[in-house]
Amino acid sequence: MLLCLNIFTNSFSKGIPQPSCIKSERQALLKIKQQFKHSNMLTDWKARNEDCCKWVRVFCNTVTGHVTELQLGNSNDTIASSRSKKAGSLKLGGKLSPALLDLKHLSYLDLSNNDFDPTQIPDWFWNLTSHLQYLNISGNQFQGKIPDLLTNKASLVLDLSFNNFTGSLPGISLNVTVLDLSNNFLSGSMSQFLCRKKHQMKLEVLNLEGNHLFGEIPDCWEKWRSLVAIELCNNNFSGGIPSSMGALTSLESLHLRNNHLEGEIPDSLTNCTPLLTLDFAANHLPGEIPPWMGEWLSKLIIINFQ
Ligand SMILES: *[C@@H]1O[C@H](CO)[C@@H](O)[C@H](O)[C@H]1NC(C)=O
Ligand SMILES: *[C@@H]1O[C@H](CO)[C@@H](O)[C@H](O)[C@H]1NC(C)=O
Ligand SMILES: *[C@@H]1O[C@H](CO)[C@@H](O)[C@H](O)[C@H]1NC(C)=O
Ligand SMILES: *[C@@H]1O[C@H](CO)[C@@H](O)[C@H](O)[C@H]1NC(C)=O
Ligand SMILES: *[C@@H]1O[C@H](CO)[C@@H](O)[C@H](O)[C@H]1NC(C)=O
Ligand SMILES: *[C@@H]1O[C@H](CO)[C@@H](O)[C@H](O)[C@H]1NC(C)=O
Repeated sequence: MLLCLNIFTNSFSKGIPQPSCIKSERQALLKIKQQFKHSNMLTDWKARNEDCCKWVRVFCNTVTGHVTELQLGNSNDTIASSRSKKAGSLKLGGKLSPALLDLKHLSYLDLSNNDFDPTQIPDWFWNLTSHLQYLNISGNQFQGKIPDLLTNKASLVLDLSFNNFTGSLPGISLNVTVLDLSNNFLSGSMSQFLCRKKHQMKLEVLNLEGNHLFGEIPDCWEKWRSLVAIELCNNNFSGGIPSSMGALTSLESLHLRNNHLEGEIPDSLTNCTPLLTLDFAANHLPGEIPPWMGEWLSKLIIINFQ
């Protein structure tokens, strides 16, 4: 059966000509490579290799031939395997080229864990977010402020963690589903970011851990009902845990460790029945676990109050 299927699919794919890459997009990729340093891992990115859809780390739409994905990031896995193969560093350096904007159908861009020049991100770069669905620039040393990111037309996963961004939290549009700004140097309060939203937001994961955010955690969570995970650990938040968090009926983890929070834990949290993990440690909250927690939050598996 498998053999037959194999023969069938082989002859099928031979029958239909696969579109090769689009010339203007190949030129854009070559310009992008020119601005990179240590790009030895991109050896087959060459003008004479015409089909750029076959280049390493480039993925195209199989019907239209447009470049849709650039996987130029390094997970620990790829770094570890490059070391074991003695292939030298897989990390790219240098600059980001505005030719990225010429890839009009790009929806997935991973530039994580590289060694780009530790400068401010150029303004044009953020315009990519209006058509991307996935942007990961985690683990570089990018600096400067993050502008409001309100123009994305589709759902968007944004990972800007482990950089050196400063300034306040950027505004986001309702289509952002994952926002990871953890481990930067962002400061100021959270109220601009959180409150004054007219529509229900689609955000599921909010990670602001390890910044210099301060002030109270605002009491306006009603528009954020899709949230599944909230990470606010290692900041300088003060005041109480807001009772409107009870509106978050999809919430599975709430991690507020190492802030200056005080007061009672609001019993509105009984509405957050999917909760699996709560971490309130290293705050000034009462040391006792409220009795209603065991009764209402039957799925809890980890509670940290220390
Ligand atoms: C971003 O890239 C890093 C490193 O490759 C990875 O660990 C992380 O999970 C990625 N973020 C998202 C949201 O996929
Ligand atoms: C990835 O590597 C960094 C240091 O290079 C380390 O701090 C981090 O814990 C590693 N992450 C994982 C998931 O192994
Ligand atoms: C970015 O921050 C880290 C500390 O988190 C620091 O070691 C590094 O020098 C900073 N890089 C730049 C370019 O400022
Ligand atoms: C993108 O470009 C337009 C101008 O074409 C500009 O108004 C906008 O603020 C830019 N930035 C972002 C993040 O979209
Ligand atoms: C959100 O995405 C939908 C399509 O999924 C789009 O129609 C809508 O205009 C987007 N909204 C915003 C504010 O960008
Ligand atoms: C944290 O907030 C307290 C007041 O709540 C303030 O005294 C302290 O300086 C702040 N620390 C940092 C690192 O911002």
